Amino acid sequence: MDDISGKIAVVTGGASGIGRGTAMALAAAGARVVVADIEQPPLDAVVAEIEGAGGTAIGVITDVSSWESVAALREACEEAFGPADIVMNNAGVAGGGAISDIELPAWEWTLGVNLWGVIYGVKAFLPSMLERGSGHIVNTASIAGHLTSVGMGAYNTTKHAVSGFTETLQQEMLQGETGVGVTCLCPGFVATNIVTSERNRPERFREGGPDLDDDQGSLGEMTSVIADAYAAQLDPAVVGEQVVEAIRENRFWLFTDDLADDMIRERHADIETRSNPGARAHLMELMFSGGDE
Ligand SMILES: NC(=O)c1ccc[n+]([C@@H]2O[C@H](COP(=O)([O-])OP(=O)(O)OC[C@H]3O[C@@H](n4cnc5c(N)ncnc54)[C@H](O)[C@@H]3O)[C@@H](O)[C@H]2O)c1
Repeated sequence: MDDISGKIAVVTGGASGIGRGTAMALAAAGARVVVADIEQPPLDAVVAEIEGAGGTAIGVITDVSSWESVAALREACEEAFGPADIVMNNAGVAGGGAISDIELPAWEWTLGVNLWGVIYGVKAFLPSMLERGSGHIVNTASIAGHLTSVGMGAYNTTKHAVSGFTETLQQEMLQGETGVGVTCLCPGFVATNIVTSERNRPERFREGGPDLDDDQGSLGEMTSVIADAYAAQLDPAVVGEQVVEAIRENRFWLFTDDLADDMIRERHADIETRSNPGARAHLMELMFSGGDE
């Protein structure tokens, strides 16, 4: 899609982090943007910022883990601007914990947002793209979709699934000569609010989650150490520019940096040689080492 100007774009999880950076970059490139998110005040702030910079946007409160909500998002988009040309299924949460410990509601929450959110987004917006023979879908996976670090079982499961789903979608769009482009965004570490994802865990998925009644920010010392480390990572505005470029160039794989390349190669080598994986370094070690061994 050479020209983004005048196109209609939907970005889920657009109120914060990578989604916000991409919504701003798409608006700066001339797209009319539907910003979808579960959190109202930052959603309103992004829309105001886009409009303040001379762009066009609306905000739509959406829970991507609900089909009814994503179907309503499509209706809101069509009512305001028309059928979407660009859809970025990006809303995501970071549910942690060992596989032996993760409570079922936490599995359902992480899979609901990170995986079902992507499936619902494609189910809602792809048919109209196919009818028109054009469009572009960006699904946000992660380097975690290519790795298997311990304590990230639910998150890894969703991100591997999003990679596989998105690669399959790309093959179907290509082989069907549909005119619909696909990008699989695999961010490394980006300075976003992902560490405080719990702030947006819907009540129906809350059993077994941390008690947030006192102070949403204080999820323990470990979280604040990780939050500080995250704050020093890649600017989401840079990722937004990378996404716009990938849409323009119809690029499938979009890794935001090469920090995890060696770890990904190590995993691929085990698969190619049918070797039993040994104990591997943890993905988060890369964040603290900046990639230095
Ligand atoms: N930050 C990183 O280092 C990193 C790395 C790899 C992948 N990712 C992925 O990037 C995507 C964006 O995350 P981020 O890092 O910008 O985090 P973020 O918390 O800053 O932004 C995520 C947004 O999703 C929204 N959201 C949460 N649950 C939702 C729901 N049910 N429905 C609609 N919106 C919902 C949040 O309100 C928030 O605005 C996620 O899919 C995440 O897994 C992030």
